[in-house]
Amino acid sequence: MIETLFAGAMLYDGSGDTPFLADVTIRGGVIASVRPAADRLPASAIDVRGLALAPGFIDAHTHDDLVAITAPTMLPKITQGVTTVVVGNCGISAGAGRAAADALPDPMILLGAPGDFAYERFADYAAAVEAAQPATNIVALVGHTALRARHLDRLDRDASAGERAAMRADLAEALADGAFGFSTGLAYATAASASTEEVMDIAEALRGTGALYCTHLRSEGAAILPAIDEAAAIARHAAAPLVVSHLKCAGADQYGRSGEILGRLEQAARTQAVGCDCYPYTASSSTLDLRQVVPETPILITWSDAEPAQAGRMLADIAADWGVPRRAAAARLQPAGAVYHCMAEADVDRILAHALTMVGSDGLPCDPRPHPRLWGSFPRVIAHYVRERGLLSLPEAIRKMTGLPADRFGLTDRGYVRAGRAADLVLFDPERIADRASYDDPVQPAAGIVGVWVNGVATLDANGATGARGGRLLRRNDTLQH
Ligand code: ZN
Ligand code: CU
Repeated sequence: MIETLFAGAMLYDGSGDTPFLADVTIRGGVIASVRPAADRLPASAIDVRGLALAPGFIDAHTHDDLVAITAPTMLPKITQGVTTVVVGNCGISAGAGRAAADALPDPMILLGAPGDFAYERFADYAAAVEAAQPATNIVALVGHTALRARHLDRLDRDASAGERAAMRADLAEALADGAFGFSTGLAYATAASASTEEVMDIAEALRGTGALYCTHLRSEGAAILPAIDEAAAIARHAAAPLVVSHLKCAGADQYGRSGEILGRLEQAARTQAVGCDCYPYTASSSTLDLRQVVPETPILITWSDAEPAQAGRMLADIAADWGVPRRAAAARLQPAGAVYHCMAEADVDRILAHALTMVGSDGLPCDPRPHPRLWGSFPRVIAHYVRERGLLSLPEAIRKMTGLPADRFGLTDRGYVRAGRAADLVLFDPERIADRASYDDPVQPAAGIVGVWVNGVATLDANGATGARGGRLLRRNDTLQH
């Protein structure tokens, strides 16, 4: 078996500890050895002196369910050094049955076109990912809204006992087939009518498995504290670790509440397993939601099925052109996508820096003008929050992208550069690494990523993506047996 030796890298091993100069060998897709750098460079070594070596980044929050199959090179991820993505977030997933494909419930449209939802069962989705061989590893959650679309005739009501049992059975089957947990998107109209009891009844399938409950909270605004309490109660009921998705203070009336919100999370974390993810930007993005059209939030329209020519313009300008209020203009644009400038920098800082927080891009891979988080989140944390502003140390920032999510999701064979772990690695120039995607020019690969290996497969080098695809569908049960 071919052995590759990286010699003299500054190693950030994923633990958050102080980096050290190391020689790292990989063999057969696995890290074979990690040693302090030898004084002399061995002849066969790849000289990586002056560069940083880290575990491949784990994107704790994505909507890459279908692009993993339809665009398996996963360029927005690989070019950032991401080697594993968690899919199935916010209650929407492709792996929970072929949801009524002609009437895809919002926000399932974020994942792909109706015809792409071809998977009747989680096992079918898993098989399709394996056949597609994406460039990154895939960790899949099962979405509550997807289950509701499969089992309910209408989504503006609570599920019956029989429907809950059917959804719980689907979830249990998916967990047995390798899913890592259950996600909800209770803020969306298609799940908002689900009671806490409905979610608890379904989540019972998690009990005793170690799988997670991940949630886009019922409210990210004024009612966020009760929403955190609800999430914690559901996770306790299911005896499941909790991940609060894209934690934020959304809306001008919420600015400054991050301390209070993190305090509530810390309080829960004293008695149960709790974490959260966050993307490093002050704007959010999703489908266009009329309830979020408020005067204090500037809104960029990223796409519109009804008015495609308006994509890339500010809602206020569109409304002015049409001579109508912003909300009326928004209604006319539907269905549409939007970027909402709805957060304060100080809140993003506090949440991102918090010990419970992992980095998750929440990137929207099908958006023609995506929020820049799709292509920029991971380099941006290092460039902006570590190097320019010193909000985090580099070892800490890397831990939030590697060891912490690996621990949280139970990826016992990834997330750290240690002998025996999978050879998912990223090599980068710590002085040059930077996000280049912006709101105006969002489809831009990052700078400063020098090499990416996924299960030992060289997926990106100095010339860019190699075209090789070494990712796997990870199965929770396999990982735990490791
Ligand atoms: Zn969400
Ligand atoms: Cu999301």
